[in-house]
Amino acid sequence: MMDRLFSQTAITRLAALGLVVTILVGGCDRDLSLSPSKNKVLTDDERMEWWRDARFGLFVHWGLYAVPAGTYQGKRVDGTGEWIMNSAQIPVGEYEEFATRFNPIGYDADEWVRLAKNAGMKYIVITSKHHDGFCLWDSKMTDYDVMNATPFKRDILAELAKACKKHKIKLCFYHSIMDWHHPDAQAPFFPNYNDTSRSNPNFDRYVETYMKPQLAELLANYGPLGVLWFDGEWIKDWTEPKGKALYAWLRELQPDLIINNRVGKGRQGMEGLNKGDGEYAGDFGTPEQQVPATGLPGVDWETCMTMNDTWGFKSYDENWKSSAELIRTLVETTSKGGNFLLNVGPTPEGLIPQASVERLEAMGQWMAVNSESIYGTTASPIGKPEWGYCTAKGETLYLHVTEWPADGKLSVKLPNAGAAKAHLLADKKNKALPVTCTDNQVTVTLPGEAPDAVVSVVVLTVNAK
Ligand code: GLC
Repeated sequence: MMDRLFSQTAITRLAALGLVVTILVGGCDRDLSLSPSKNKVLTDDERMEWWRDARFGLFVHWGLYAVPAGTYQGKRVDGTGEWIMNSAQIPVGEYEEFATRFNPIGYDADEWVRLAKNAGMKYIVITSKHHDGFCLWDSKMTDYDVMNATPFKRDILAELAKACKKHKIKLCFYHSIMDWHHPDAQAPFFPNYNDTSRSNPNFDRYVETYMKPQLAELLANYGPLGVLWFDGEWIKDWTEPKGKALYAWLRELQPDLIINNRVGKGRQGMEGLNKGDGEYAGDFGTPEQQVPATGLPGVDWETCMTMNDTWGFKSYDENWKSSAELIRTLVETTSKGGNFLLNVGPTPEGLIPQASVERLEAMGQWMAVNSESIYGTTASPIGKPEWGYCTAKGETLYLHVTEWPADGKLSVKLPNAGAAKAHLLADKKNKALPVTCTDNQVTVTLPGEAPDAVVSVVVLTVNAK
């Protein structure tokens, strides 16, 4: 079995490892050491500032799994598309064959970035390497990448980096610690790559001579990056001290880098926030497919979510959330002080599915009118009102009305309000709406019809008594 696992690419890579690591890491250190000395050292709040302001980003899951697109040997495979190698128990050598069919000639990085930007998103997190181990960039550490193993031979991450720079969108990389292809990581666990009871005695060699040099490549060649978004940290061989060490090492390479909590072991399952029993590595929590019941003061987090039921493309998954639901989830997440990272799974042709495009466009139309109530805002200071959600910026409250009151009276529970002014965010003339303040309540009289059927925003500025 081992013979099959050590494919030609693996052997070439292993032979090259020692030499390349030395050259690469040496080179990277030199290049990257420019940034710490040139830039002033940022406080954590300064470092997190752009991310907290952004509130809305695009997640992209793309890799070889787009080729089978959820079907293996004529059968539909349960689970999310990017897990097919594990779910269908595909041997490494056979899975590698998908690379020969990965030729996404429709890929247009500029168009993807414009789509994200027009949706109101400020950053893009793309899978540099998912659990299957395939790399979307020209890695010197392996031939199992888009340049050497596919007919496409274009550096997907380089093209995206260029487009992000042009459109001023922060480029961020997802990176899987778990690796089903590497013989020193989980490949020998076939047919259960995700076996969390097993250990690979060579795992530390994988970390030191493969994973870290690859991360150094990503920072050196495509950086500075906004975020490194780790995943697959639940494997037995990964520990919290390893996570802390990796975090510190990356911050040395790029001091202003933001890193999610899956770099360590703090995460509590899909809930995504850290356990309460200590200090864990990472800058923000990562709830998955869910919005926490409430925000947590002083805790940064980001909900990641799919538009249908898969991260990586599945040709037959049509279980799409509506645009209205997605807009409301963005608003709800923001009202609890979190970010929203919304996923697309491009096709093997390099196209973002039309259903996703339509949803991003609808969100963009809403954001074109209402983004002021999202960017740079903080969690609701009034909890969850019955008519919708609330975000805040200084003295200003943004009232996100999802249930337009039949009697036209919008009540906001606010103790000590002295005077208040209100207008509809959709009203370019900022026409004042009638407001009354009583002891514990501000009441805004709304027009009969909501300006937006999904979420209408009332801007309320309150002066304390
Ligand atoms: C998961 C899955 C994965 C997906 C990710 C997104 O834990 O393993 O396929 O990339 O979360 O948050």
